[in-house]
Amino acid sequence: MSRRSPDGGRRLEAATAAGVMPLEGIGEAAALERLIPGTGPWELELGFGKGRFLLARAEAHPEQRFLGIEIAHEYFALAARRLARRRLTNAALLHGEALYLLSAILPRRFAAAVHVYFPDPWPKSRHQKRRLFSPATVDLVLGAVAPAGRLWFATDFLDYGEEVAALLASYPGARALRRSEWPDGPRTNYEAKYVREGRPILRLEVALDAEPALHPAGRAAVLAATAEG
Ligand SMILES: C[S@@+](CC[C@H](N)C(=O)[O-])C[C@H]1O[C@@H](n2cnc3c(N)ncnc32)[C@H](O)[C@@H]1O
Repeated sequence: MSRRSPDGGRRLEAATAAGVMPLEGIGEAAALERLIPGTGPWELELGFGKGRFLLARAEAHPEQRFLGIEIAHEYFALAARRLARRRLTNAALLHGEALYLLSAILPRRFAAAVHVYFPDPWPKSRHQKRRLFSPATVDLVLGAVAPAGRLWFATDFLDYGEEVAALLASYPGARALRRSEWPDGPRTNYEAKYVREGRPILRLEVALDAEPALHPAGRAAVLAATAEG
């Protein structure tokens, strides 16, 4: 099975401080609540890599709940071990493909903040449909953000970053601000490395309106696809 299959070529798995478990059976409305019971607001990170940001943020904000999605099993397993070692009871990790999990498993508008740092840019045009940010996928990603929530984004692929900035600028109810740095310093392993190397980075903080709408290009793409069928 290829790395790009919906479940990343493996059984879908979740990890909490209690250990790793199969994801089957948690794809329903109360699933997240069962993974991390409580009332704290959720934050979501897509493509968390080795988990540096997500785990540090979960440790610093015990009153909040954190969910991470990562397709590479070795990174998921590494971060799962760190999560258990640090006994972080307010964070859960999912192994799988972010767009699949967003469309098939996760509730909409559940996360007060969504973090996407250095997502794969898929520069070849035939691969661009795999991007987390394209007219066809942006609704899925922003659809996870709660009303009046925030999206945080960074990339070193500046062309991709400019396309994402333009896409978000045309998104109804989204206001994107460029940041030269984050108030808390470099957040992820990639960011720390690129800052050390002096590589330019495009960072966006995006505020969503309280009553979010769908992106017109996304809706047009969906209508065109269904009309073809
Ligand atoms: C360039 S790395 C950045 C890792 C981390 N965010 C950082 O900034 O250090 C991109 C990460 O996203 C993961 N990834 C790529 N596409 C993904 C997808 N569709 N769903 C979930 N994770 C994905 C990769 O496995 C990799 O760990």
